[in-house]
Amino acid sequence: MRITILTIFPEMFEGFLNTSIIKKARLKNIVEINVADFRQYTKDKHHRVDEYPFGGGQGMVLMCQPILDCLNDVRRENSHVILTNPTGEKFVQAKAHQLLEYDDIVIICGHYEGYDARISDYVDEEISIGDYILTGGELGAMVITDAVTRLVEGVISADSIEDETFENGLLEYPQYTKPVEYDGKTVPEVLLSGHHENIRKFRLYESLKKTLQLRPDLLENRELTAEESRMLEQIREELAAEEK
Ligand SMILES: C[S@@+](CC[C@H](N)C(=O)[O-])C[C@H]1O[C@@H](n2cnc3c(N)ncnc32)[C@H](O)[C@@H]1O
Repeated sequence: MRITILTIFPEMFEGFLNTSIIKKARLKNIVEINVADFRQYTKDKHHRVDEYPFGGGQGMVLMCQPILDCLNDVRRENSHVILTNPTGEKFVQAKAHQLLEYDDIVIICGHYEGYDARISDYVDEEISIGDYILTGGELGAMVITDAVTRLVEGVISADSIEDETFENGLLEYPQYTKPVEYDGKTVPEVLLSGHHENIRKFRLYESLKKTLQLRPDLLENRELTAEESRMLEQIREELAAEEK
């Protein structure tokens, strides 16, 4: 997979591209991630990429020309072009999986007050990473790139992904590591037992309980197995008894 990020702040990506799993994925040539500075494409003699908005108002708006000339230069026939935008579709794990279908992704980072609205006509979709306003799309581009890259085959093991939060419609069960006792708090016995089936059941139970307590909306959209339905029933009864 190739991901190209269009930004006027390429230096923001240095740490991101050269650290941990993203760095390894690049060095193994599993993903190619490029950063293109669209300021280099401006035809303005003062190298400007933004202008005052027509109609007045606060702030500066990114112009079409530098972004679209840069996009035309880097895009391939099969590129899927994403505009980072707080007004776009909310980014979720399912979207990260869906983006795996593209071999070539281009992500455009806005800044200042945002873009000339006509840029929307040249992209395939607009993505928001959440209901808040960032100074620029760079963090959004990193979020999307990170979430997608770790799902690309060969980047991390498929087993690690399987049980993760959101992967099977549940929150992940709690995890523990050494020491067995810390500040008087001990690791649940079953995890030390080596009994795989009991550990599986414990984790499923904890996963269902956590999801019910913190994100009940996830359970509404999920088809439960018979085992999960039984466990959930038990959890509900136990929680109701605790409340009495
Ligand atoms: C300050 S924001 C512009 C906000 C715009 N004036 C508005 O009210 O919708 C500048 C740029 O940051 C990026 N950005 C800000 N918040 C974002 C979010 N939640 N998700 C994705 N990108 C975001 C976008 O690229 C946006 O064009």
